[in-house]
Amino acid sequence: MNSYPHLFSPIKVGGLTLKNRIEAPPTSFMDASPEGMMQDKTLDFYRMRARGGTALITLGEAYVDPERGLAHPCDLRLFEPLNMPGLVKAAEAIKQYGAVPSIELLHPGQRSDVTMNRSGKAYGPSPVDKIFAYDHPVYEMTEEMILDIIRLYGEAAVFAQDCGIEMVMIYAAHGNLIPQFLSPLVNHRTDAWGGSIENRCRLPLMIAQEIKRRCGKQFPIEFRVSAAEHIPGGYTIEDTISMCRILEGNVDLINVSNGSFGSREAAKLTIGSSIFMPRGHNIEEARQIKQAINIPVSVVGGLGEPELLEEIIASGSADMVSVARGLIAEPFLPEKMASGHPEDVRPCIRCNYCFSHNYIPLTPYPKRLPRCAVNPVFGREDQFRQAQCSTHLPRRRVVIAGGGPAGMQAALTAAELGHHVTLYEKSNRLGGLLHIAIRPSFKTDLQNFLQYLIGQVEHDRRIDLKLNHALTPQDVQELNPDLLVIAVGSQLVVPPIPGCKLPHVHTLTDLSEQNPDLGRQIVVIGGGLSGCEEALDLAQHGKQVALLEADTQVLLSLGHDDYLHKKDLVDEMEHTQGLTVHCGCSVSEITDNCVICRNTDGTPQQYKADSVIIACGTRPLDHVVNELRTAGSKYIVIGDCYQARNLRSALQEGFLSVLDI
Ligand SMILES: Cc1cc2nc3c(=O)[nH]c(=O)nc-3n(C[C@H](O)[C@H](O)[C@H](O)COP(=O)(O)O)c2cc1C
Ligand code: SF4
Repeated sequence: MNSYPHLFSPIKVGGLTLKNRIEAPPTSFMDASPEGMMQDKTLDFYRMRARGGTALITLGEAYVDPERGLAHPCDLRLFEPLNMPGLVKAAEAIKQYGAVPSIELLHPGQRSDVTMNRSGKAYGPSPVDKIFAYDHPVYEMTEEMILDIIRLYGEAAVFAQDCGIEMVMIYAAHGNLIPQFLSPLVNHRTDAWGGSIENRCRLPLMIAQEIKRRCGKQFPIEFRVSAAEHIPGGYTIEDTISMCRILEGNVDLINVSNGSFGSREAAKLTIGSSIFMPRGHNIEEARQIKQAINIPVSVVGGLGEPELLEEIIASGSADMVSVARGLIAEPFLPEKMASGHPEDVRPCIRCNYCFSHNYIPLTPYPKRLPRCAVNPVFGREDQFRQAQCSTHLPRRRVVIAGGGPAGMQAALTAAELGHHVTLYEKSNRLGGLLHIAIRPSFKTDLQNFLQYLIGQVEHDRRIDLKLNHALTPQDVQELNPDLLVIAVGSQLVVPPIPGCKLPHVHTLTDLSEQNPDLGRQIVVIGGGLSGCEEALDLAQHGKQVALLEADTQVLLSLGHDDYLHKKDLVDEMEHTQGLTVHCGCSVSEITDNCVICRNTDGTPQQYKADSVIIACGTRPLDHVVNELRTAGSKYIVIGDCYQARNLRSALQEGFLSVLDI
């Protein structure tokens, strides 16, 4: 019997029966061309997602109103007839594997982009001079406009239905037009569209009625809400429950998300919950909503752990689970669970890379590419499929030096593509410097990922794993591989500061391997990612920590690709007692009980220290690479030994290095 009987039971939503309780909510940015057209290259992504066993797959965001309701390029336009072939193909790709295709209908209201709207203006329920994160004024919608928008939602739903899309999701969450009408903070109208809860919910009610009128009563509507706005004076869970009750007879499934793009704090609850938040942060509010209504409820937010997914349905907290990033990281999550292999589910590490590098409008040059830190196939489904289809080509002998993330990923991909793989690791364990990165207690997601990755390599019989063996040029000459992958990694940098060899001075490796007693007052030297995370973790465990950084800011090496994690980490550091950050601070000496440094203006400064941690980054193991280069085989250098960076570069290069050999 299946270990997840509740999760894998069918459920009726409107006129449709879904094969299980797992839904993939919208994750836009990758679907459309800059003109908002569904692109063929996205089809493989949806096909793979459907093949992985997800029951309901929602495309989106899709705009309904070209006059007043466009926000980003590269989001679908549902009013554009030329979009039809692409959407038909997407619906077919999803249905091919028994999943139900849906699409999210969006009007951003005051959050729209005035340069894209045909009207050249942004409209909302009430006028505003300037809203959070945008520079434009907002004009009040006339009643005529509101009625036109309701009509446009109906048109868009008919368009979707014509394309073979079997359901729609009304986007009534995260500070878009519908929640703008619901919010007492934003909606100051005194006519039929403001004031009482009935008036504030008139817009979504009429939209849902219009869609049912145009598409038929059996055509299911999912209604995505934020449980509460989470801005002082904004709408509450009671308002949301009232809205769901008002909508109940006209929509078929409530999707419970949270928060709003109306403020930085509220935005943290909207899309990608960070590693500093618990998994499943919306479950309690979903349960409250479910208890108040009689239609199914789906919950989203930090979900993906197999046991938790089953528990949500089994406990009656919700009827469905919505998994966004978890399915980006592992599109075969449902199938792996259903077939009794939850240990093969590649966990999402909630790094928010997938979102950060596209973060419009907060990232000046959004890349608009589907990319995931842990799943290198995401966004390259077509390339991977082509490589999988090349089984007629001869199998190659691949030798990999280094069992860190880059080497492990190269081994897994090469083995999956049918090559003969031997992986050499000089130490007695796989994982490389990831063992250091997982130390802070808020890195449980990364701990899970490392465990998963090591498990995949160790249990893959196609990989010949040689631990405690540093590959030499002589080995390579004897093995004579078709490809040598050099992934030997990097080593920690210890700057030659006087006193750096004292017994109370530790590197991050010392901490990971020896777990020394650090005392109460700790100085961390180096405000890069690992220094900041280590300092934060120590302070969270009651230590007094001074973090010293020579540059003008901490985390300077993190760019837009890490925008969200950086923000969250800095917020966390600012709100943690016992942690002080000192920038522009050049360390000149470490003594028995303090660290001596100079500020940028030359003023000397001392920080008391029971122990000192050096977190000054890593440098590639060039000498090992250079030795292996001489072995005479065709080779490629990847990961940290090419350039010391991060997990996602390591995994991506591991994957790409063996994709086409
Ligand atoms: C890359 C990416 C794109 C997203 N795009 C949308 C979108 O277009 N519409 C939407 O309602 N939510 C969007 N979301 C939010 C997700 O649907 C989901 O609510 C959120 O990621 C929380 O779920 P998770 O913790 O399972 O990732 C997006 C999330 C990600 C990671
Ligand atoms: S990029 Fe990071 S947050 Fe996004 S799906 Fe991948 S692992 Fe998860």
